Amino acid sequence: MKKYLFREDANQIILLENFDAIDFNEISSLIFRLAEQGACLNNIVEIIKQEYQIDHETAFRDTKELLKKLAKFGVRPDKNKQKQIKIPIVHILENCNSPCMLCDCWKSRSSIQHPSDLLKKYFCTIKKMGAEKIMLSGGEPLLHKNLKDIILSIKKLDLKVMLNTNGLLLHKNTWLHELDIDEIVVSMDGLNQEDYKELRGLDRFNQVWINLQKFKKYSPNTIVGIRSILHKKNYLKIDKMVEILLKNRCDFLGLSPLDINSNSFSRKNMNQKRSLELANNLLPNIEEIKAFERLFKPSNRYFDFIEQSFNDGIIGWNAKRLANCMSYYKKLWTQEDISGSWTCTFPIFSMPEMLL
Ligand SMILES: C[S@@+](CC[C@H](N)C(=O)[O-])C[C@H]1O[C@@H](n2cnc3c(N)ncnc32)[C@H](O)[C@@H]1O
Ligand code: SF4
Repeated sequence: MKKYLFREDANQIILLENFDAIDFNEISSLIFRLAEQGACLNNIVEIIKQEYQIDHETAFRDTKELLKKLAKFGVRPDKNKQKQIKIPIVHILENCNSPCMLCDCWKSRSSIQHPSDLLKKYFCTIKKMGAEKIMLSGGEPLLHKNLKDIILSIKKLDLKVMLNTNGLLLHKNTWLHELDIDEIVVSMDGLNQEDYKELRGLDRFNQVWINLQKFKKYSPNTIVGIRSILHKKNYLKIDKMVEILLKNRCDFLGLSPLDINSNSFSRKNMNQKRSLELANNLLPNIEEIKAFERLFKPSNRYFDFIEQSFNDGIIGWNAKRLANCMSYYKKLWTQEDISGSWTCTFPIFSMPEMLL
């Protein structure tokens, strides 16, 4: 959990434990935002040198000084995160049209949609940090009134565009076909109508598949992927998911571990009760995980299927990643307090770093 509060109106961060504060000017505010995104010292120095025409020595000294102060607030740039900035996920708005069980964006009363002008500046900055693609997400990005303009601004920078959506409104946004975006990733957590409804709160399983088929038909150059969290009803059915995916002429299945305990996904009031509820509703239990671990070995049909599909580029996880996710779930069950310390690194990754 963050140790600080960023007050955008006052351009200030406040340390919650003792109300220490740092006031930012324009440059220090940029350094803070970059450090929060995980940029390392050298990256930040390069960006502020270019943005503000400052000499290297001054940029280096000032950045280092501020980073030292920010460390007390728990904002620490991580050298390893240089590679993570390759596909930054940018949340262009918070609210949403799907009442999912695992995420609270739909509960947000925020009507804030990040303005396209501000986003354009931000895209330029993250390009300088080495991004090659940008994944637009939210909330539900298809609700953003300037989505077309936002996508065009990314293309203008020669960056690839990925769109992560729940797919509910794809059929009403046929203008997307003209834009020829690089990849669309549609969340599809259930294998059937019933599971989809349980997880995503709406009876739209069939509608979303129809939308996906149409999208692929009219945007043949766009990679069309689906993404699902790994849960108790699908961890043994990834082969079935791939079958449905291919039948619907889509290209790729991405998997994510379920985050049951962080404040990510706009869940402002996570607590032990809600974490347990999510675990009970969605995680395989400890006996199921142990049974899985006994069987999931090379030469087992399911293990080999996962390896083969990963090598064929159809699914995003190999057998090791799937096994790691199951062992992460096991550790969650064996923790005394299930709402405890396994932090999610979303939006940099929607998964704990131990899984990578
Ligand atoms: C927050 S959504 C935003 C984009 C879009 N509304 C959608 O649902 O795809 C981005 C991704 O986060 C995933 N997600 C939401 N809550 C999650 C959780 N508690 N644990 C893991 N992934 C989660 C969703 O399934 C989705 O694939
Ligand atoms: S997962 Fe996506 S669709 Fe579901 S509530 Fe969150 S933002 Fe909305």
